[in-house]
Formats: sequence, structure tokens, C-alpha cells
Amino acid sequence: MTESGDFDDIFKTGSIFANRELVRIGHVPKLDRVVGRDQEVNAIGQALGPATMGGPPETTIVYGKTGTGKSLVTRCVTREGHREARTNEVVFQYAYVDCSDYQTEAKASREMARGLANNLDANIDIPRIGIAAADYRDITWDLLENYSVDAFVVILDEIDKLDDDELLRSLSRARESGKASTHIGAICISNKIEFRERLNERIDSSLQDNELVFDPYDAGQLREILLNRTDAFEPDVLDEDVIPKIAALSAKEHGDARKAIDTLYEAGRLAEKQDTETVTIEHVNDAVQQAEINRFEKLIEGTTPHVKHILHALALLTADNPAEEVFRTHRIYTLYVKLAEREGADPLSEDRVYRLLKEQSFLGVTESNHTGGGQSEGSYLEHRLLRDPEIVTRALRQSNGD
Ligand SMILES: Nc1ncnc2c1ncn2[C@@H]1O[C@H](COP(=O)(O)OP(=O)(O)O)[C@@H](O)[C@H]1O
Ligand SMILES: [Mg+2]
Repeated sequence: MTESGDFDDIFKTGSIFANRELVRIGHVPKLDRVVGRDQEVNAIGQALGPATMGGPPETTIVYGKTGTGKSLVTRCVTREGHREARTNEVVFQYAYVDCSDYQTEAKASREMARGLANNLDANIDIPRIGIAAADYRDITWDLLENYSVDAFVVILDEIDKLDDDELLRSLSRARESGKASTHIGAICISNKIEFRERLNERIDSSLQDNELVFDPYDAGQLREILLNRTDAFEPDVLDEDVIPKIAALSAKEHGDARKAIDTLYEAGRLAEKQDTETVTIEHVNDAVQQAEINRFEKLIEGTTPHVKHILHALALLTADNPAEEVFRTHRIYTLYVKLAEREGADPLSEDRVYRLLKEQSFLGVTESNHTGGGQSEGSYLEHRLLRDPEIVTRALRQSNGD
């Protein structure tokens, strides 16, 4: 027996996942795994069509909420266009720039040059600092010239994060100004539909060839997307109602494919941790609840221990008195003092606690209302917890590390 064999057990992964990569965040599936977006695939395909024949690509602006497949569809179709062009003996190149990672004009321009160099397999050194945005663009135009690129498309993802429009303007001018003989186009993506007005004001109308809106997914589409990933799991591991349940919940709440896939992954992980043989609806419910707890923990991350004790007091009162819902400041205060003292903290004054409660209502966590009687504020104010008390209590416990 080998020594290393003794520790096999600690690396045990269970028998739930066959290929967990398929349901991890960050995994970018191939075009053949993109489902329910035929119309959008075709619209981007049409905009890029001329470029695959060596002509000018049409610039397209893509809007839609997060998790609606904008980045995925755009990247997959562009990659496919690159392949298609090769069969036509056309040099079609692209660069993908995620502006949330590269927010300044110089950083985004550098990333464009780097992406193009990468895709061309060009072995050039692009300085990280010390040169201006315009110099990075010149490197780009030189690459296009030297590699006889017929058409070039830049994907500017999350373009609303970009602090300047100059990159976009220079793309539309490059050919006219004789800087490049390549046909150049852009696909601009934004999670914010409001961004449209800003773009319209600032950008040349020639850039507004096409506009495409990605709607949130409905339950049917989400079901299809999830069913397409079932090979992430071992055969017969998923109970048959698991995917329909996640699809229905996600469609109702957000229509976000990323979150739906993540719920499926988390449900699988819970089953794995419990060493069970199947993933069930209970795992899904627990995964959804855990995600809510994590979100709430994030929301209260920066608050002081006193605010946490106050929220804890209100959550306990709410859970213990289901018929009441609203609680006066003084009642919350009395319990708060006990909780704070139990943790060895010096309680704040009642007036301070009253103010903190009113502040929490700005976070959307609680709601405070006058009861109608009198002027003396504190004691006549009532507070209501707007979240499930169990989520709040568990998030507080989690943020304490216990
Ligand atoms: N139509 C689809 N088919 C398959 N998977 C999808 C689809 N749409 C989204 N996804 C999955 O959801 C994730 C998030 O999609 P993404 O394109 O990044 O959304 P957005 O850019 O609109 O925020 C993708 O990485 C992919 O795993
Ligand atoms: Mg995106």
C-alpha cells in the first residue's frame, strides 16, 4: 500500500458531479450549448455577416439585464464569424474588452491591442504603462495593417463602465482618417438600458446601426438552458422536479441564467456535502435560502456590531410574535440591551438606537412609522422588519463566524 493512499478520503468528491465545470460561474459554453436565443444569435450574425466576406461589419448595441446571455451570445457568434471567414479566405479578427475590468480609455485601448495581438498570435510587446491611449490604438492599427486584416470587430462589454467615449469614436474614424484600411466595427454591450440615451447623445449616428435588447429569460428558456447542462451531473442524480423548480423560481425573481445555473450548482454541492445520492427539491430550497443569507450578509457587511444587535433584536421579536409584525422602539431597545450585554458590549442610548433604526429603513431592511400619537418621537415609532427573520438571524450568525 502506498503512503499517499492513506489520505484518499480527505479528497473525496462524492458521486454527484460528473463534470462540475459545466455549472461553474465563469464557464463560457460553446455556441452549440446556447439555447433559446436564436433571434439574437441571428441578429448579431447578420451584423457581422459582411465582415465574414471581407466587408464592413455593422456596429451593434446590445442592452439587457444581467444574466440574459449578452456576453455569451456576442462572444460565441463573433468566434463563429471568425471561423466562417476563414473558410472564405477572409481575415476577420476581433478583440474582447470587458470595460468593468478596464475602465479608463488607456486601459481599454491596451486591452483591445492585447486581445488582437493574442488572436493574431502576434508576438509583440505591448507596454503596460508609459504610453498614451492613442499609442495603444496606433499599435492596434499597425497590427491590422501588418497582418492584412480585412475586418475587425471590437466587443466593448459593460461599456457604461468606460470613463470616456474616445475609444469608440476613434474606432468609427480610423478608416476615414486613413489610419487603417481594415473595415472596423464594434459591438457595445450594456446592462443598463438607460445608457442608450447617453450613447445617443455622445456617439456618431453612424454607430447606431443596430440595437438589440435581450429580455430576461422565461421559465421555459431557463429550463432548456439548465437541461442542457445536466451532463455536469452523474446520470440519474437529479430528481426530475429539480430543474423545473429552479426554472420557475428564477423566472419569477429575475430571469437571470447565471443565477439559475448557480442555484443548480449550489444544490448539487449541498447534496454532495450531505453525501446523498440524489439532488432533491429540498436541496434547491436550501440553496436558494443560502443565497439569500449570503446576499443579506453582504448588505450588512459594513455595519457596526450595534446595528447588528438591533437587527437581531427586531428579528427575534418578529419570529417570536408572528401576529404582531410591528414593534415599538422601546421594546426593541430592551431586547437589544440584553443582546449587546451578552456579547460584552456597552449598550447605546435609546435615542441613538432609535436613530439607527431609522437609518436602517433607508437600506430597505426595516420600515419605521409613527403610530399617530404625540410628538415625542422615539417611543411612538414602530418598526417592521422587511425580511424573513430567519434569513436575518442566520446571516447575522454567519457574519459573526458562528
Ligand atoms: N442562452 C443561453 N444558453 C446557455 N447558457 C446561457 C444562455 N444565456 C446565459 N447562459 C449562461 O449564463 C451565464 C451568464 O450569461 P452572460 O452572457 O454572461 O449574461 P450577461 O452578459 O447578459 O450578464 C453564461 O456564462 C452562461 O453560462
Ligand atoms: Mg455580461
